[in-house]
Amino acid sequence: MRFYLNIDHVATVRQARRTDEPDPVRAAVLAELAGVDGITVHLREDRRHIQDRDLRLLMQIVRTGVNLELAVASDILEIAHELRPMQVTLVPENREEVTTEGGLDLSRDSKRAEIGGAIRSLGESGIRTVLFIDPDEESIRCSAELGADAVELHTGEYANSWRAKPEEEQIKRLGHAATLARDLALAVHAGHGLTYENVSQVAEIQEIEELNIGHSVIARAVLVGMENAVREMSKILRQARSKA
Ligand code: PXP
Repeated sequence: MRFYLNIDHVATVRQARRTDEPDPVRAAVLAELAGVDGITVHLREDRRHIQDRDLRLLMQIVRTGVNLELAVASDILEIAHELRPMQVTLVPENREEVTTEGGLDLSRDSKRAEIGGAIRSLGESGIRTVLFIDPDEESIRCSAELGADAVELHTGEYANSWRAKPEEEQIKRLGHAATLARDLALAVHAGHGLTYENVSQVAEIQEIEELNIGHSVIARAVLVGMENAVREMSKILRQARSKA
């Protein structure tokens, strides 16, 4: 299973002072040296954390792969076409939200047409496309029909329920969603709200081949350093996989 580190939160600390440190590009180098399989960044329309400069530099120095999260908006898509990251994950974006709150809404025809168009054009540029969706049957079937290469299952509800313990139900839900996606020939990723404490049960789902984790790892890196934070998470993921 691949561990992709989302480094947006390094940029969030920098933007709090509108200065030049900490630099997410340096963070990416350290994370790669510690063993992550890829670097994820979300270039938001309001540029609240990652900046265009960060993405351009990351495209030059990242040796694993860049997973670029973006909303279906023409100016941001143009940047993706120009820079050609290995993978684009299409996400919903809402200016007021603190973080991405839910999966893509694929229930409306107009939205589906827009997302389908983006998948086709990104595919023509040789970019692998992923749709960030809630783990429900309709969204998965729709993602397959639209021709996405993969889905990223939103683990936020699982993460929110984790402390309260109804997580068994949420894990089953993620497991069923992962199996269905796999059966429909979609690669399966997952992420959002995953922590050192709650990630194991998700990592045990065999169909999941990539996890995108950000906040928890960056928060730990502030205290113990990037290398230790990445290695600790990688160890948990390895152990979960060998148990499953
Ligand atoms: N996956 C997607 C699509 C996201 O938008 C985010 C948050 O930027 C993550 C994964 C990582 O979430 P977290 O920071 O809670 O680990």
